[in-house]
Amino acid sequence: MNGNPMEQKKGEQDFQIDTLLRPDNWDSYIGQERIKANVKIMIEAAQKRGERPDHLLFYGPQGLGKTTIANLIAKEMGAQLRITSGVNLEKTGDLVSTLANLEEGDILFVDEAHRINRTIEEILYPAMESRKLHMMVGKGPAARQLTLDLPAFTLIAATTRVNLLSAPLRSRFGAIFSMDYYEQAHIEEIIRRSAGILGLQIESGAVASIARAARFTPRTANRLLKRVRDYAQVHNMATIGEEAVYDTLEMLEIDELGLEKWDRKLLESIIKKFKGGPVGLNTLVAILGEDKGTVEEIYEPFLIKMGLLQKTPSGRVVTDEAYDHLNLRQFKVQ
Ligand code: ADE
Repeated sequence: MNGNPMEQKKGEQDFQIDTLLRPDNWDSYIGQERIKANVKIMIEAAQKRGERPDHLLFYGPQGLGKTTIANLIAKEMGAQLRITSGVNLEKTGDLVSTLANLEEGDILFVDEAHRINRTIEEILYPAMESRKLHMMVGKGPAARQLTLDLPAFTLIAATTRVNLLSAPLRSRFGAIFSMDYYEQAHIEEIIRRSAGILGLQIESGAVASIARAARFTPRTANRLLKRVRDYAQVHNMATIGEEAVYDTLEMLEIDELGLEKWDRKLLESIIKKFKGGPVGLNTLVAILGEDKGTVEEIYEPFLIKMGLLQKTPSGRVVTDEAYDHLNLRQFKVQ
């Protein structure tokens, strides 16, 4: 880095930086090789036939790049991407107007697809299957069904909770992809790429430390990189070294494994109050003060992936690694 890190990209706000860092072609999309290969084949085949690709469903933890993939597919197809979320499709009219506004070849991206309610799903089925939009007009005895032909479109749905999607909805996707946490090496590559885009000079030890704390998630990796960049900015560091990463993580109360205060609180409470478990989901909900979905979707998967928490038939159990990591061996009941 020549001089000051922040001066490399002047005038970019945090959210603009997120756009800047988002890969806009397959080559710069790092990792998830199997998904990339499958999606590329589907796109190329559809293009050769002059058709639209089948409807696709992506599921997995948040921050892994589901929206990014939808963007890439749209770009590759030269298609317009329409973005909405299951949260915005509360009423029948919401979906009807979204579908009615589609143009030939559009890609409709529905994030948080598990939030779509069952009544709305009923409208989605014929739209996905035969591009028909059935809608009721009028009320009571005068009510009539109108059918509208929809242009060819591809639905890309994303969800963090695939189990909540109904079987009939799931069965209407031409391919379902499970997105898994990234490998450490890929996260490092993403950090190096982002640092390059931001014009930052960063030591390899610092890249590795950020990657270790990034929860195997590109969004988290980029977020941490931005915070370390701030720290380096304020301390007039020309190069980002490990020290800057440690200090930043400490200020953010994130430990070297990427655990945040709440993750530690969860494990610590199970250890100290429940002898390490087993405990039920409701106990975790009570400890964290979050709803069940958030606990199952956000907190648990990462702790399980890290080998700090286990799901057993009798409940959640803290592992020996968690006792070690939190330095709480003395609480272990033999
Ligand atoms: N940012 C978010 N996801 C990414 C990926 N897979 N590759 C590169 N940058 C990313």
